[in-house]
Amino acid sequence: MLNIDLPYFKFCNKTLLPIVQGGMGVGISAHRLAGAVARQNAVGTISSVDLRRHHADLMAQTGKSRDKDAINQANLVALDREIRAARDIAEGNGLIAVNIMRAVAEYANQVRQSCESGADAVVVGAGLPLDLPELTADFPQVALIPILSDARGISLLLKKWMRKNRLPDAIVIEHPRYAGGHLGAPKAEDIVDARFDMPRVLEETCALFKELGLEREKVPLIAAGGIHSHEQIRALLAQGASAVQLGTPFAVTEEGDAHLNFKKVLVGAAKEDIVTFMSVAGLPARAVRTPWLANYLDKEARLQTKARPQECQVAFDCLHQCGLRDGIAKAGQFCIDTRLAFAMNGDVKRGLFFRGSEPLPLGRDIRPVQELLQFLLTGVRAGQEQAAPACLQPA
Ligand SMILES: Cc1cc2nc3c(=O)[nH]c(=O)nc-3n(C[C@H](O)[C@H](O)[C@H](O)COP(=O)(O)O)c2cc1C
Ligand code: SF4
Repeated sequence: MLNIDLPYFKFCNKTLLPIVQGGMGVGISAHRLAGAVARQNAVGTISSVDLRRHHADLMAQTGKSRDKDAINQANLVALDREIRAARDIAEGNGLIAVNIMRAVAEYANQVRQSCESGADAVVVGAGLPLDLPELTADFPQVALIPILSDARGISLLLKKWMRKNRLPDAIVIEHPRYAGGHLGAPKAEDIVDARFDMPRVLEETCALFKELGLEREKVPLIAAGGIHSHEQIRALLAQGASAVQLGTPFAVTEEGDAHLNFKKVLVGAAKEDIVTFMSVAGLPARAVRTPWLANYLDKEARLQTKARPQECQVAFDCLHQCGLRDGIAKAGQFCIDTRLAFAMNGDVKRGLFFRGSEPLPLGRDIRPVQELLQFLLTGVRAGQEQAAPACLQPA
């Protein structure tokens, strides 16, 4: 295991590196990435969204199908395969988590499948998972980790869960100003609100724990969004976080499950290319302004005035509430499943490429997970370690 002079993350009876790889859909974090991260003794996370797209046999059965039940069933088979394959790669090291979006229609079935297939933890974002304790009641060994963005959301969730005699095993606090993908703020204008400032959320959450009579160590806090340097990690751990979660930096590792073009788009994006806009899920999201997104944003206002309920474009009904299908004018007006799948397959013209706003730890380099972890945890890039002084070198 990598030797570090930072506190380890004591979680689920394990001593882990204090790094969590965030779940990234569609298909950006599947078994290869999550397994590689866990193998290094950190937390690797598979995103549960539409995983059949990584399986040629399942796509042959359902790629052109308009049978929603068949598509959902294929996705559960894919999820099972991905969890098992990730565990094989990890060889018992680290933890394998599954990220499931609350906003996804198949949320409850995917939670159940993740538990049955042997996930160590279930991580839920894009909505408040108030029902997660009941859904997982038969699997008390599975850790439950909600993703929230401010102390108000944490307070609401904690109080509801405590009435059910359950505490989260950890909480991810994701800053909407910096993170990639869907953001935990109601509107794009809100992402700069001071209530999301990480030191403030950490402090207010510690005060909340006191008020609720909870020991601070009972619920580790995991800070996320825009983390790209060793110094930031050191500072966040000193401010009360037990670990940090990163998304974009892992998406562009060699083991990242997306096509090489996906990684090239992310590493090649300049600050001004990264935009925040409304997703069909009714939440703001952050991505790279690639050709499709630029074109869509030019037409967005016109499409929104014409929004009307219609059939799901691909008969998949992936979301509980979809701006396009349900004709919700203030939400996005595109099929997110199709666009994210184009991106995963490296289609630069047609894809939607989620990305966080900050620079990447290894710049434009696409390197192995092990090298990224070493740099984040020690501040030293592989190959640039200082040679030991001559007096310490073996004769
Ligand atoms: C390509 C991409 C896809 C993502 N997909 C999801 C997702 O499906 N569910 C989720 O909870 N978070 C998702 N995220 C958020 C990440 O898990 C992570 O928390 C966030 O990106 C952290 O910010 P960073 O990218 O600046 O490190 C995604 C992020 C990216 C970059
Ligand atoms: S139209 Fe909406 S609900 Fe249907 S697959 Fe696309 S994003 Fe999902």
